[in-house]
Amino acid sequence: MRTHNIAVIPGDGIGPEVMDASLLVLAAAESAFGFTAELTQYDAGARHYLRTGELWTSELEERLRGHDAILFGAMGDPAVKPGILERGFILAMRKAFQQAVNLRPVKLYPGVATPIAGLTPERCDLVIVRENTEGAYVGQGSTVHAGTPYAVAVQESVNTRPGIERVVDYSFRLAASRRGKLTLCHKKNILIEAGNLWQDTVDDLSARYPEVEVDYVHVDAMCFHLPVAPERFDVVVTDNLFGDIITDLGAVIQGGLGVAASANLNLDGSAPSMFEAIHGSAPDIAGKGWANPVGAVLSTAMCLAQLGEQDAALAIEAAAVQVLAGLPELSGPGMGTDTAGLGKEIAALVGAGLPPVAGRSVMEDLAGLKAT
Ligand code: NAI
Ligand code: MG
Repeated sequence: MRTHNIAVIPGDGIGPEVMDASLLVLAAAESAFGFTAELTQYDAGARHYLRTGELWTSELEERLRGHDAILFGAMGDPAVKPGILERGFILAMRKAFQQAVNLRPVKLYPGVATPIAGLTPERCDLVIVRENTEGAYVGQGSTVHAGTPYAVAVQESVNTRPGIERVVDYSFRLAASRRGKLTLCHKKNILIEAGNLWQDTVDDLSARYPEVEVDYVHVDAMCFHLPVAPERFDVVVTDNLFGDIITDLGAVIQGGLGVAASANLNLDGSAPSMFEAIHGSAPDIAGKGWANPVGAVLSTAMCLAQLGEQDAALAIEAAAVQVLAGLPELSGPGMGTDTAGLGKEIAALVGAGLPPVAGRSVMEDLAGLKAT
C-alpha cells in the first residue's frame, strides 16, 4: 500500500471549510485508487496567533519538514494587522522550505462562467510559474526619517541567478511536456537590471531546450493579452511581484477565486511542497457555507499528482469539473448547496470512472516532472 504522510493546516475563516470538503474528496480518492493518506493536523493562523502569539516557529518547521506534502487552507482575520501572517507565516514557509515555484494553472473548465465574453475552454489553458522566494518579496528595505515629512522608503527587489535559473529551468521542462511554448513576463524596458538577468537566464537555458519556443511580454501588456488572447500562452514564467498580480487576473478569467488552485513547489526534495487555493480566508462569507471548495479540491489533486498519484488527481479534477459545470452560481447562496455539500458531491464522483477533462492537465504535468 502506498502511504503519503500529509500535513494539514486549515487556518482561518473559510480555510477550514474548504479544507474539510477537500479531505472528503481525498478520502474518496484513497479508497478508489488504493493509497493511504496519513494526515496530521496543525493549528496555525490568525486565531492561533491571537491565542498564543506564535507564527512560524522552528518547532513547527521541524515537524512539518517530516511530511511528504502540506495542504494549506487560508490564513487571515480582521483582528490581525495585514502583513503579520503573510510575512510571518506564509512567506516564512515558502523561504524555509525553498518552495521556489508557485505554480498556478489558468484553465477555463467547460460549463464555467467567465467574465470574458466569447472565451472558450480550448482557448484558455496555460500555466503561470511565479518565482516564489525572491524579488520584491524578500522583505529587505528601510525607511529613513520615518514618521516625518522627509520619510524615504527603500524597498529592495532581490534577483539571484540561481534563484531565477531554477524556476526558468522548471518552466522550460514544463513547456517541453506541454505545447512547447515559454513566455517570459517582466518589465525589462524599465527594470533593466532585474529584467536583463531574467532575459539572459532564459536565453542561456533555451539552448538546452531547442524544442521550446521562447517569447517575451511586458507585464502591462500581459494584463491586456491574458484576458483577450490567453491562447497565446502555454507556460508563462515571471517574478514574484508580477506573478502575484497576473495570477489573480488569471483566476478571474477562469471563473474567480473559488476555482483557482496553486502549488508551492520545493524542487530539490529538501522539504515538502505546499498546496493551497489562491483565495484568502474570506471573513465576509466565513461560517455561511458559501465558499466554493473547488480551488482547494484542485489544489489537493495537484498535491496527489506531485506525490505520484496521477490517476487519482485526474479523477478528482474530472469530478470537480462535472460538479462545477452544474452550479447555477460559482459562490454564495446561489450555488444551490453549501461548501460541505459540494465536497460530498465531488467525493461521490471520484471513483465513478469519469473521462479526464479535455486538454492537457496540470496533473499530468506535475506527475511527469516529478518522475524526471
Ligand atoms: P479573499 O480571497 O479572502 O476574498 C476576496 C473575495 O472573494 C471575498 O469577497 C470573498 O468572499 C471571495 N472569495 C474568496 N474565496 C472564495 C471562495 N472559495 N468561494 C467564494 N468566494 C470566495 O481575500 P481578502 O478578502 O482580500 O482577504 C481576506 C483575508 O485573507 C485577509 O486577512 C488576507 O490577508 C487573507 N489572505 C490570505 C491568503 C492565504 O492564506 N494564502 C491569500 C489572500 C488573502
Ligand atoms: Mg495574491
